[in-house]
Amino acid sequence: MLNIKKVAVIGAGIMGNQIAMQTAIHGYTVYCYDIKKEIIEAAENFSREWFKKRITKGKLQEEEAVQIQDRLFFTTDLEQAGTNVDLVIEAVSDIVAVKKKALAAIDAYTPEHTIYASNSSYIVSSRFADAVKDPSKVLNLHFFNPALVMKIVEVVKGEHVSEETFETAFAFAESIGKNPVKVEKEIYGFVVNRIFSALTREACYLLDQGIASVQDIDKAVKGALGHSMGPLETLDMTGIDLEYNVYMEKFRTSGEPSDRPASCLSERYARGEYGRKSGKGFYEYGKET
Ligand SMILES: NC(=O)c1ccc[n+]([C@@H]2O[C@H](COP(=O)([O-])OP(=O)(O)OC[C@H]3O[C@@H](n4cnc5c(N)ncnc54)[C@H](O)[C@@H]3O)[C@@H](O)[C@H]2O)c1
Repeated sequence: MLNIKKVAVIGAGIMGNQIAMQTAIHGYTVYCYDIKKEIIEAAENFSREWFKKRITKGKLQEEEAVQIQDRLFFTTDLEQAGTNVDLVIEAVSDIVAVKKKALAAIDAYTPEHTIYASNSSYIVSSRFADAVKDPSKVLNLHFFNPALVMKIVEVVKGEHVSEETFETAFAFAESIGKNPVKVEKEIYGFVVNRIFSALTREACYLLDQGIASVQDIDKAVKGALGHSMGPLETLDMTGIDLEYNVYMEKFRTSGEPSDRPASCLSERYARGEYGRKSGKGFYEYGKET
């Protein structure tokens, strides 16, 4: 059933790059593609440094690292990524129109049997499945950040998704060392992010109301609820821009004022304070962090 040899990852940002690396580590040939040359260069540098560190730490043999890197390609050439590809993993920005555009673009080069897996954090695949030739081959395969480390992957059974697509994606997730969770029906945010959103929404509300500081909110959640990271620290890691866009997309769909991003998110978004990736978010990230 699992006849996957070549995988293309579309979008080489925080998630795409690490998903591509994880997939190559487990024996697949991977093309990691982005529209931006500078993102591809940064992704390739990150990957090179990461493999070097694994060798230095004795976690990977040099020969093995060379073999993995020989089957991991970074490219801005979509035709190269899409030709003869068996599985496309989409990790572009969490905006329906952007996802549709990215999927339609690669669909021009892919063979009939290609499966499309979206890494969206929230958006169900039925909202963009019509961007490709066969919507029954499109589903959500949701990895968590950092994708090289986090074991859980959500695999979502939309009504439009064929059984074969679902089973193949599930088996693929297992084959790359993940521990997939079946989500039986489509729902915005799936399981994990619905629960995480409830937590971050409340954390942002408490911050906006001046009830407690950033540090104290995180300290309380870690100390009393046993979480290893506080909700605001986690938002800095996943990206305030991502969270802002998620709320804006939800607001555009629902029109509900309560779906607007909290002030502490919109203000930081407007200042370009996206979290760790920009050096500042709820916390500041200097060289020492
Ligand atoms: N950041 C997280 O913690 C996290 C966790 C799980 C899932 N996700 C999901 O993963 C996806 C990507 O998130 P991210 O944080 O990696 O975003 P990111 O902003 O770091 O990367 C997105 C990349 O997509 C590229 N891109 C945009 N349009 C493209 C196109 N048409 N073709 C190719 N590349 C294109 C951009 O140049 C950018 O490099 C989103 O759907 C997000 O919801 C993110």
